[in-house]
Amino acid sequence: MSDVGFVNMAGKKAEGDVPELGIGMLGYAFMGKAHSNAFKTLPYMMYPPLAIPKLVAIAGRNQEAVTAAAQRYGYAKAYTDWRAMIDDPDVQVFDNGGPNDAHAAPTIAAAQAGKHVFCEKPLARTAEEAKTMLDAVEKAGVKHMVAYNYRFVPAIVQAKRLIASGALGRIFHYRAVYLQEWIIDPNFPKIWRLDKAQAGSGSLGDLGSHIIDLARFLVGEPKKVMAMTKTFIEERPDGSGGRGKVDVDDAVTSLLEFENGAMGTIEASRFAQGNKNGQRWEINGEKGSIRFDLERMNELQVFWADEDPRETRGFHNVLVSESYHPFWENWWPQGHIIGWEHSFVHEFHHFFDAIVNNKPVAPWGADFVDGYRNAVICDAIEASAKSGRVVDIQY
Ligand SMILES: NC(=O)c1ccc[n+]([C@@H]2O[C@H](COP(=O)([O-])OP(=O)(O)OC[C@H]3O[C@@H](n4cnc5c(N)ncnc54)[C@H](O)[C@@H]3O)[C@@H](O)[C@H]2O)c1
Repeated sequence: MSDVGFVNMAGKKAEGDVPELGIGMLGYAFMGKAHSNAFKTLPYMMYPPLAIPKLVAIAGRNQEAVTAAAQRYGYAKAYTDWRAMIDDPDVQVFDNGGPNDAHAAPTIAAAQAGKHVFCEKPLARTAEEAKTMLDAVEKAGVKHMVAYNYRFVPAIVQAKRLIASGALGRIFHYRAVYLQEWIIDPNFPKIWRLDKAQAGSGSLGDLGSHIIDLARFLVGEPKKVMAMTKTFIEERPDGSGGRGKVDVDDAVTSLLEFENGAMGTIEASRFAQGNKNGQRWEINGEKGSIRFDLERMNELQVFWADEDPRETRGFHNVLVSESYHPFWENWWPQGHIIGWEHSFVHEFHHFFDAIVNNKPVAPWGADFVDGYRNAVICDAIEASAKSGRVVDIQY
């Protein structure tokens, strides 16, 4: 019984004073909700907490909506100008959950004001823009992290540990898809995610960047890419009675060659009927293989080439929910599974550890170097799709 997570958790005690970190959150929709949920859950689940997030302020553009969001999530103040929130001396951590075109300016301003910065992915619309953000955080000397939250799914961390231990041996293949279906209807409006000026790219930056991050996290640096992108529906209702041109990719398929000699494929689409949040990937090494499916995120499929007896050798399913699995000492007895939202709890716990104990965010978390490198790869994929040629990755 001693290694059951629930029992361990109950046995832990908070020691000494736990510092508070004042949070200033930009955006109160999808990510604003996911992050706020994590801030509220973290102090009692990641126990004892390294820091207690204090919900100081939330920023939006519409007074009524941002005030309602502050009340709903429990932020003490609501700002309609992110600049005023950044100037608030009670804000120590700036959390950017805004759309991609609202990442650079507020995040750079927050870093210049000495706030630690956490930014949603993709870090920026282009590598050039991402570089300005990286330069700003390095100059300011603040902690910086990009929300590649899948690095904080227990099964994925377990996969990383297996690969790092050499259990798979030499890696031959990384084969990843990230598929959704929510814009197939031609009457779906042209929201910010379908506009290059606001989003930077389409399925590439939205979904592809996650599996590019996992490629770098699990396998290593890619050195070359070749890609094809497609926009299936080129015009959509613009929300004000007119039509708007869709100038981002609806789908992307890319081939990668890694520095360590592995091959990779990356496919992202928002036109894949039946796929709700279909992130799936497989890694094949000389000694075994690993498979993951986000819609079954507590599981990892593994195959070991030398497993005995050979008569029952085959892929088998590991339910990653034991107290000795990553992050699980904080949750429930084994088999009482966790959800997508909990990756954000782990992610902020990691960021607070970096702030409070002056530790690096990388390599287990994605910092702005990772955000910048990811943007370089996205740009190379777009360049290859445009030219039809292989493009070298140069950071
Ligand atoms: N990590 C993940 O799994 C994940 C999932 C979804 C989205 N994202 C990323 O999170 C970011 C936000 O996406 P979302 O789905 O929450 O978008 P959303 O459209 O649901 O929300 C955007 C929020 O930003 C606010 N906003 C827009 N412009 C603003 C401005 N200038 N000043 C202040 N507030 C502003 C909007 O009012 C809204 O509250 C994007 O970069 C996206 O790529 C990440």
